[in-house]
Amino acid sequence: MNTEKTPITLEKIVSLCKRRGFVYQSAELYGGLNGVYDFGHVGTLLKQNIRKSWLASINAASDDILMMEGALLAPQEVWNASGHLANFNDPMVDCLNCKHRYRADELDLNKPCPHCGQKKWTDVRMFNMMFKTHLGASEDQASVAYLRPETAQAIFVNFKNIISTNRVKIPFGVTQIGKAFRNEINPKQFLFRMREFEQMELEWFCSEKTAQTDFEFWSQKRLGFYETIGIKKNNIRLRAHEKDELSHYSSATSDIEYQFPFGWKELEGIAYRTNFDLTQHGNFSKKDLSVFDDETKSSFVPHVVECSVGVDRLFLTALFDAYDEDVAEGEQRIVLRLSPILAPIKAALMPLTKKQVEPLEKIYRDLKRAGYMVQFDESGSIGKRYRRQDEIGTPVCFTYDFESETDRCVTARNRDTMQQERISIDKIEEYLAQLIK
Ligand code: GAP
Repeated sequence: MNTEKTPITLEKIVSLCKRRGFVYQSAELYGGLNGVYDFGHVGTLLKQNIRKSWLASINAASDDILMMEGALLAPQEVWNASGHLANFNDPMVDCLNCKHRYRADELDLNKPCPHCGQKKWTDVRMFNMMFKTHLGASEDQASVAYLRPETAQAIFVNFKNIISTNRVKIPFGVTQIGKAFRNEINPKQFLFRMREFEQMELEWFCSEKTAQTDFEFWSQKRLGFYETIGIKKNNIRLRAHEKDELSHYSSATSDIEYQFPFGWKELEGIAYRTNFDLTQHGNFSKKDLSVFDDETKSSFVPHVVECSVGVDRLFLTALFDAYDEDVAEGEQRIVLRLSPILAPIKAALMPLTKKQVEPLEKIYRDLKRAGYMVQFDESGSIGKRYRRQDEIGTPVCFTYDFESETDRCVTARNRDTMQQERISIDKIEEYLAQLIK
């Protein structure tokens, strides 16, 4: 058997996702929709765990965090004020020979088309990435709306409502987890660049005086988060943007980057957005979005530090980081060494014979009732069952065997070490709680 490790590739991750039901190509039955994906059972659970741990980390960093859930559609006034209608463009170029379309900033136009080898480019045109639609039956200007390209604007547009319905004072943060849509010219690298995706965003409202310190505070907190969910330290780095990389709204940005097989790429953006957004929405809506400062006895428009990460991009990151291949019981195995916090299934329960189904099923039901996402796995050889659970990252498998009736213990088999130990049935819950902590 060849036990040499081969590099982790995107193809391996895509294949695992498909085989084990993490991710499906959306509308695959009809040929698929490019840049759009559906999530299966274990994929949905992994996403849930990502959202949960992200929210917990934000709340652990500050006591002044609110939540909101904005609509996916917003009228064009919002996108005029935010600058997205004018600035949210990618440069696009087509090959006149093979009709392939590219993002012009990702190509050297002095070179031939990577697809057909000819050098017949169209002019570079700017392409707005927002999805436009009309509300209601009429298609006039007044009915135009856009699917949001970022979740952040819903928070800014609701700033007045948030202030007046919560007893909050600057500084405080508002979190939101939800879908965003971008008509990417070239969706690629699976979940890395999608057309429909999900963001987790924190908008931290503060004064100009503390903005720089707050920016640094959140940069460090966010970096620390990836360690708590088990991402390897040497695969993560914080990189400050050069001036010419900054978005239209930002005066300082740092990216948390991950070392993907296709290079160091942005995983999360931390941006000091100044008071650009609230000032713009105040001007365009002609509403006062300032707050009163008790200390200086004057009003000011709050500044914002934003932390923004894609759920799907973090999903892909977690899979890359956890993916491993080794040899188990004489067989090649694929194992996802996911942090137990993220693991979709926390434990699998495996009876060795039919006689053991009933007593183990009782343990399974008790664990489910206690809130643990566990699986009862009774089909196939024990080796096959282990392989199945290893591939979805289940941290522990419990087998109930002949001795269990007498010693009231199960065997716990650790996913990473493959070591086995006897555990008292009464202690299983405690064992899992410890594992997930
Ligand atoms: N509100 C700020 C904002 O949207 P961004 O850098 O464009 O900033 C933030 O996006 C994060 O959203 C990115 O770091 C990435 O994790 C995720 N993201 C952005 N575009 C994406 C796409 N097309 N597919 C998947 N995730 C995406």
